[in-house]
Amino acid sequence: MDRDFARLLMSTAQVIIKILDPHGRILRFNPFTEELSGYRLEEMRGRDWFTAFLPAHERERMQQLFARCLRGQAVGAFTGTMLTRTGVARAIDWRATAVADRGGVAAGVLLIGKDITQRVQAERELYELNKIAQQRERLADVGAIAAQIVHDVGNPLAALSMQAQLIRRRAREHPEQPVGAVLKSAEQMVLELRRLESLIREFMNFAREQRLHLRTIDLARFLTEVAALWQQVAFARRIDLTFDSPGLALSVRADEEKIHRVLDNLIKNAVEAIGEGPGRIGISARPCSGGRIRISVTDSGPGIPKDVEVFRLFESTKADGSGLGLAVARQIVLAHGGSIFFEPASPCGTVFHIELPMEGPAAANAAAPLPAVTNS
Ligand SMILES: Nc1ncnc2c1ncn2[C@@H]1O[C@H](COP(=O)(O)OP(=O)(O)OP(=O)(O)O)[C@@H](O)[C@H]1O
Ligand SMILES: [Mg+2]
Repeated sequence: MDRDFARLLMSTAQVIIKILDPHGRILRFNPFTEELSGYRLEEMRGRDWFTAFLPAHERERMQQLFARCLRGQAVGAFTGTMLTRTGVARAIDWRATAVADRGGVAAGVLLIGKDITQRVQAERELYELNKIAQQRERLADVGAIAAQIVHDVGNPLAALSMQAQLIRRRAREHPEQPVGAVLKSAEQMVLELRRLESLIREFMNFAREQRLHLRTIDLARFLTEVAALWQQVAFARRIDLTFDSPGLALSVRADEEKIHRVLDNLIKNAVEAIGEGPGRIGISARPCSGGRIRISVTDSGPGIPKDVEVFRLFESTKADGSGLGLAVARQIVLAHGGSIFFEPASPCGTVFHIELPMEGPAAANAAAPLPAVTNS
């Protein structure tokens, strides 16, 4: 009965079933494997599975998993590539189990594989579509920026021109007077120039495509550093700024400089919301569902003003705000495959959360020809 059942399963199951001997040579596989791979069992029996079916770069890893499985160690599920007769790479979700003979001696390994090529391709296409949508959104925003630039750069330029004319007139009227007489105008010019510089820097940050330089960031170290950089500004305004999870043992694959910029924007907004203080800003991080981490910045300010669409380009309630801070932050977080949102804090103020995939954006996978072998 058991034998009949096993035979039935072998011949009808729509999954790859393979039995390898302890050296990794093919003993058997089912008709579904023949159909998927284009190889017949007769011609492959006794052949080395690793060289016959796997791309060279995956062999060593699979051999290690195979050896572990033979020793009776758990290997869990893992994803890999199987090459067909015509050289097509299929993405396979594998499960491996050691098979023992009647005496309990390891007689080989049973491999069960599910073909997930379509799912992987669909995920990749979705990722590409999202990327295109993001690029479109960015282009539309860049257009809006061009219009705004004329407006925003125009005012400081007019002020600069006025001050320069004033200096020239004074110098012409009173050539004997020391340069000190034009100090005030010169200082104002410097201020306006600084504002222009920072405005243009932000515009460029936004207009530039988000190319990510990914590396593994130790969150405790990173957030301690970010908090330390804001300590002086906070202290001057009687704001108690703390990183609340220093014992955190978490890391995330991301572009450190860009995520730093996101946090700078959030903390700057928190400081500006609190104003002259006293107040409190808390930075914290924790793991959350779906393999993501959440970093939060909480302030004790007055909360988000009504009817303000904080993430919209140029949305600002501040006299000297460009309204780019959160638009830039959102763009960076989206490029990482993450999300950014806010909620009221208790008892007052606002908390901004950013969530990022711990393993980095899907780009890491999409760049590879097919998924690398991962042991999950
Ligand atoms: N923590 C916060 N508390 C209260 N309001 C906030 C907070 N963060 C943002 N906002 C509101 O959202 C608006 C948009 O913020 P954003 O950072 O995009 O621009 P900005 O701070 O006004 O200018 P910029 O960041 O370019 O200097 C702010 O003007 C403010 O009204
Ligand atoms: Mg801001």
